[in-house]
Amino acid sequence: MKLAIVYTSKTGHTEELVQFIRDLFLEKKIEVRLIRVEQLPLQDLSAFDAIIIGTYTWGDGDIPEEMLALYHAFESQDVNHVVTGVIGTGDSFYPKFCGAVDAFRDMLYVHSRLAVTLKIEISLQTKDLERCRRFVDIFWGKFKKGA
Ligand SMILES: Cc1cc2nc3c(=O)[nH]c(=O)nc-3n(C[C@H](O)[C@H](O)[C@H](O)COP(=O)(O)O)c2cc1C
Repeated sequence: MKLAIVYTSKTGHTEELVQFIRDLFLEKKIEVRLIRVEQLPLQDLSAFDAIIIGTYTWGDGDIPEEMLALYHAFESQDVNHVVTGVIGTGDSFYPKFCGAVDAFRDMLYVHSRLAVTLKIEISLQTKDLERCRRFVDIFWGKFKKGA
């Protein structure tokens, strides 16, 4: 099983989130690679069985610039079989809370086997830990169903 979490983070909140999610997969003995988006070759996303996107939101509900090439790669490649999920941190002070998560979700719903999404208010708190566990369980459940 080839599972990757591809992410970006400016001030560290999303990085903390993706590391926590990675650790939850490892607890279940599921191998997962954590990859900063700049390090991921984009030409063959279909080589993955499953990809989780981790992103913050910028501007007015926007996808961060460094994530745009990945977004377009999903749109243009044959990734119908890839199980996907989207996680992100944002600030509900802004009108479009976690807008980048919504944008990836809408696109991945059309192009891939979208399993589940998760939005976190700014940075991980104790109250979020159960939601993170649920994210991993739902994601893994969807993967096993199609395997
Ligand atoms: C200029 C700017 C614009 C932002 N715009 C949004 C937004 O539209 N929606 C949102 O939910 N969060 C917005 N945020 C909040 C960030 O997404 C949030 O702080 C996030 O946790 C940062 O993640 P990081 O620490 O991984 O870089 C914005 C932050 C800044 C500085």
